[in-house]
Amino acid sequence: MSVLIAPSILAADFAALGTEIAAAERGGADFIHVDIMDGHFVPNLTMGPPVVRSLSKVAKVPLDVHLMIEKPDQFVEAFVRAGASMISVHVEAVPHLHRTIQLIKQLGARAGVAINPATPVGALEEIAGDVDHVLVMSVNPGFGGQTFIPRTESKIQAVRALLERRGSRAPIEVDGGIDMSNAARVIEAGATILVAGVSIFGTGDAERATRDLRAAAALRARV
Ligand code: DX5
Ligand code: ZN
Repeated sequence: MSVLIAPSILAADFAALGTEIAAAERGGADFIHVDIMDGHFVPNLTMGPPVVRSLSKVAKVPLDVHLMIEKPDQFVEAFVRAGASMISVHVEAVPHLHRTIQLIKQLGARAGVAINPATPVGALEEIAGDVDHVLVMSVNPGFGGQTFIPRTESKIQAVRALLERRGSRAPIEVDGGIDMSNAARVIEAGATILVAGVSIFGTGDAERATRDLRAAAALRARV
């Protein structure tokens, strides 16, 4: 299965987002990952729908919006209208997950569920058959540039097994601390979408880093 790259603009120069996105796209980015933080669900603040709307005007590839917020139901419509193609909500943040997933789908976006490092895979048991993708956090959400948590590999395998049991071919996205040293391992474990912030936008050459990350993942994944 091919590897998809979703550069996370959290590590980009916010005064030059259009240029940064264009560079990642030249390098073959498949999505642009947009991290939305509310200062409550996670201890950090980022951006809201107006920024996503501006990004959607310059991005050629779909926007993958990762909501790290409480009460996402109140905001999913605004993010879809702003141009989000994929929306992930956290299983830890939503009391009525099935309703939220249906809402995202009804609005016309791909609906995903994100899961924190300390949350058991079993939390996805009842929703696995309904989601368009699963986002496995490989760091605790809230900040870019953190260290990949190695246990994520076996967690991805467990999520893959759960999806297969439920007859789902939904892709697994992995997010946090992904770089050339671990990309192939998470792909081998069953992820297909790599989110990467610092390892792409922190390099000073997002075009090349996007290309290199895909090459690193694909090379080892064939072994
Ligand atoms: C963390 C975010 C990530 C972050 C990843 O809460 O969800 O998407 O941007 O950044 P890196 O790749 O730098 O760990
Ligand atoms: Zn993210």
